[in-house]
Amino acid sequence: MTILVVMAMGAEAAPIVRSMSLSVVDDAPPPMVWFEGSGLVIAVNGIDPVHRVDSIGTTPAALSTAAALARFKPDIVISAGTAGGFVSRGGYIGQVIVANGPVIHHDRRVPLGGFEAYAQGHYPTMDLQKVTERLGFTAGPCSTGDSLDAPPLDLAAMDTHGTIAKDMEAAAVAGVAARSSIPFTAFKVITDLVDSPEPTAKQFMANLEVASATLAVALPVFLTELNG
Ligand code: ADE
Repeated sequence: MTILVVMAMGAEAAPIVRSMSLSVVDDAPPPMVWFEGSGLVIAVNGIDPVHRVDSIGTTPAALSTAAALARFKPDIVISAGTAGGFVSRGGYIGQVIVANGPVIHHDRRVPLGGFEAYAQGHYPTMDLQKVTERLGFTAGPCSTGDSLDAPPLDLAAMDTHGTIAKDMEAAAVAGVAARSSIPFTAFKVITDLVDSPEPTAKQFMANLEVASATLAVALPVFLTELNG
């Protein structure tokens, strides 16, 4: 079995690449960076060549997922990384969340019949609630937008969805996996609380390193369960 894990930031991926002693795959299309070992592939979206920062957001996530699907033909696809959580829905910094129920794009609004649901995505995720709870992680709704902030219309969509993990890639990765009928899940560690008075960017920067270290410990445990 091959599991593909798609990640947006080099800092999110580095601890797990190190702890699992993964090797670089040398035919990744730039700027993507691929690592593999023991039935696992990690696809990092890479450094944007124009802006020289990590390629976060939905467009690079979809490109990266499509390229890695074609190359590795995985059995399962996971969008892994950090996310914003919600105090009002029981969230806390360092919380490990596995998607439960469909993932949506909470920032897409197209009120034109069937295009409304299409725009939001509502892509399926694997039913992993029992495994998730057994491992001591939290199962719940995830949603994706291309902004770090959360303006009122996005917040309303997230409230309706019951979002407990707000990220910038999962629904895009899920959409590409769904086109090839490959099972998908999202695995996220909370770096910031969207409904706290502290600025999101400040919380994110303060907690990125420890959240990435948490990911490096928690994700292998989860992968072992999926492989089993
Ligand atoms: N990744 C980590 N925190 C996030 C947030 N608040 N919104 C979107 N993506 C995030």
